[in-house]
Amino acid sequence: MGTIHCISVIPNAVKIPHSRRLRGIHLYPIFAGEPNWIQCERSIIPEEANGSIPVRFSFIVPQAMTQENTPTIFAAEKRAHWRALEPEIWSIQGADLDAVPTQSILTTLWDQPRWLEAYHLYDQRGSELFEQICGLPEYYLTRTENAILETHARDIIARAPVRCIVELGAGYSKKTLHLLTEQLRQRGSSIFAPIDVSAAGLRASRAAVRSAFPEIQFHGLHARYEEGFSAIDKNLPTLFVFLGSTIGNFNHSDFPRFFRTLSAAMGPGDFLLLGADRVKDVKVLEDAYNDSRGVTAEFILNVFDHINRLLHGNFARDNMRYDSRYNPEWQRIEMYAVARARQDIRFADIDAAFQWQKDEKILVEISRKFDPLRLQEQLRFFDLGAVEHFTDPREWFSILLLKKES
Ligand code: TRP
Repeated sequence: MGTIHCISVIPNAVKIPHSRRLRGIHLYPIFAGEPNWIQCERSIIPEEANGSIPVRFSFIVPQAMTQENTPTIFAAEKRAHWRALEPEIWSIQGADLDAVPTQSILTTLWDQPRWLEAYHLYDQRGSELFEQICGLPEYYLTRTENAILETHARDIIARAPVRCIVELGAGYSKKTLHLLTEQLRQRGSSIFAPIDVSAAGLRASRAAVRSAFPEIQFHGLHARYEEGFSAIDKNLPTLFVFLGSTIGNFNHSDFPRFFRTLSAAMGPGDFLLLGADRVKDVKVLEDAYNDSRGVTAEFILNVFDHINRLLHGNFARDNMRYDSRYNPEWQRIEMYAVARARQDIRFADIDAAFQWQKDEKILVEISRKFDPLRLQEQLRFFDLGAVEHFTDPREWFSILLLKKES
């Protein structure tokens, strides 16, 4: 038996007084599940609720795990750390992906100039807005990348003879579908393992794979990228997939760290499929991040509603505006929130305050644009050799296939 976790019992329909101290407490209700599997659904006490709110769940029970349940995608020495959260979805024992990111927010907001780490953008509303961005007429990235994959999936899979496809983020999309279809056609039964911090995304992915590709073994890893890919067995021939030009959102210290750890986690002969948006006409770039419907602006400024909720802050959304521009020197789009008037920002819980001056900018997100040849050259220093470069007829977006060289 594996380690037993969190033994505590909450009687049915108990009333928990809703005080500030209780905000953000997580309850793990247990539903009936298959033997050895426990399905849990996370629940957060709604912040708006006043007084007391009923807790409808039965109890929290220990989850017994046997090692035999752990799939073969994990390296032997990592296997014991993973447990099944629910069927086919795995998480690291004791990992708390929801810990309030106070430290990150405070250190970057007090930096000069002020900035924020991108992951704060993805609360529930942020994730919905991001989905909308991907379909916007000005936002060519998703469509273009998808078209490249559709055209070249056959070639990509032929050149990367693997048994397992590990996708970083995204979970499951049309893009992945092209790869899985080809993988199944060329190799038969295979493994698909998406890594995502969103359990909801993994569930959607699981449902889609089960119905469209019942022959494919699904293992969702509920984890941060690095924790997820570092656990994969190096002896399992694997294609790591990282699309959407998400590497463009990494800053200059995250970028090399990411490739160093990914490369170290790859076995000899493993592959990486990497999507990267390219340097191009400034107007095309700027329109993609400043759409006429204002969805991108809403996505970026929504981060302040999220921070207000997390840290009981008082950012006033009606007193700020979105500003984005292409910085040619750094080859990146910069997405800012600008104070329309001075705001005295306070965080009630932590006795911290600062003045956000009129016209002062907070850098919320960057999106770097790449020259594919330079990127290939750079990745060589991480032992990732170029196998093939795929692009679209306008050469707006690149997908690189790389191989780990030992
Ligand atoms: N990586 C994609 C890009 O840079 C998606 C993305 C991340 C994005 N953060 C964003 C798109 C902020 C618009 C705004 O385009």
